[in-house]
Amino acid sequence: MPYADMDKILSLSKRRGFVFQSSEIYGGLGSTWDYGPLGVELKRNVKEAWWQAVVYDRDDMVGLDAAILMHPQVWVASGHVENFSDPLVECKECNSRFRQDHLLEATGVDSESPEAPAALKDLVCPDCGGELTEPRRFNLMFKTFMGPVEDTANEVFLRPETAQGIFVNFKNVLDSSRKKLPFGIAQIGKSFRNEITPGNFTFRTREFEQMEGEFFVKPGTDEEWLDQWVKSRFQWYIDYGIRPENLRLREHGSDELAHYAKACYDVEYRFPWGWAELEGIANRADYDLRQHQQVSGQDLTYFDDAAPEGEEPRYLPYVIEPSGGVDRATLAFWLDAYDEEPDGDGVRVVSHIHRKLAPIQVAALPLSRNDKLLPTARKVYDILRKHFRSQYDDAQSIGRRYRRQDEIGTPYCVTIDFDTIDDHAVTIRDRDTMHQARVPVSDLVDILKDKIEHAW
Ligand code: GAP
Repeated sequence: MPYADMDKILSLSKRRGFVFQSSEIYGGLGSTWDYGPLGVELKRNVKEAWWQAVVYDRDDMVGLDAAILMHPQVWVASGHVENFSDPLVECKECNSRFRQDHLLEATGVDSESPEAPAALKDLVCPDCGGELTEPRRFNLMFKTFMGPVEDTANEVFLRPETAQGIFVNFKNVLDSSRKKLPFGIAQIGKSFRNEITPGNFTFRTREFEQMEGEFFVKPGTDEEWLDQWVKSRFQWYIDYGIRPENLRLREHGSDELAHYAKACYDVEYRFPWGWAELEGIANRADYDLRQHQQVSGQDLTYFDDAAPEGEEPRYLPYVIEPSGGVDRATLAFWLDAYDEEPDGDGVRVVSHIHRKLAPIQVAALPLSRNDKLLPTARKVYDILRKHFRSQYDDAQSIGRRYRRQDEIGTPYCVTIDFDTIDDHAVTIRDRDTMHQARVPVSDLVDILKDKIEHAW
């Protein structure tokens, strides 16, 4: 189990500048969060690590950055106008609103199980015990208006997934990049869902970021590719430090699949409140391209010029989609890294976050604020900051500064002491082992680079 409970993480987040409540000086806006100076670094590193694995480490993926606002017909074709809704119930006494399926799950009954219909009748308002209304479908897409006239003709949606930006650009990317199947398109960006019950900090919010890939394959090879993507996406979370016992794979039952999916696996993390989805890897078959082809009237087929004799060379590709949440992954990496270790009479709070994800990789710490030491300390810092995400800190005792860096997950502290002025050597302290080693300043960058690249 993670050592962190959410209260500790929330307090640490605010105290150290990871995540703040949005619009806090106005009392906050429900379930919206702002990433502070350390949080933004952590989140950027998570996205960078994903892009590295999904785009740069492969030769069959390219990137895209599509607009958030898209033609309204996109959402008709994708099925979101018709299907992207949740069952909403309202308390007749206190008017609180809930997702009916979430209330049911909280009682331990699966919404697809035979016990569900009877259990639904017994549901009452979790806040006041009042009677609930009959459920109605509530579409989760945010609407806005394009241009100065606010009428239905000008209605557009904030995208609820980044995926559709990829599907509508399939032909553009194919023609411009001259890629052959199998190949995929990756995108990271904001999505918006008017969730009925957001919550659990940054886990479920109304504005969030997704990292999605759409991998186009020849029909018939889709199951094999699904298998490959499931394995590689699962491994990515482990590679970046999540303990395997806190990660699991769950296959969707046929009654649970989204309207577009032929098969789907969720990578789930053991959050403090239970197992929950980090990422879904779905086989979307040719659902999206077929829908867009039909609604737009454009030919979205692929011509396979290497098709063997007797095989139809023109077809709609099938799609394998790894779709993860940036905010959820960031939270999971952060939770899983959190630790409290006995330290003398007290406790050392330390984040064992992966070296490549750490908001600060190296801290330059002069032993004291003594004027004689500062020019040398600043010189060392200037060397470090060109190569690493670095921080200079000379406030308070060195012990306290080590603790502060431990808490925010800085893997290496470099201490500059009075001997440094003459012997041009500094001490590297390792966050995890607290081991200290003296090294020449001339070797410092190479040593740290090697550690950050290869340790772990
Ligand atoms: N294109 C497929 C798709 O959007 P999804 O399972 O609805 O699939 C993919 O979303 C991922 O996006 C989820 O696994 C989750 O990590 C993230 N996500 C979805 N809704 C979210 C929300 N309200 N807040 C934060 N992250 C969310």
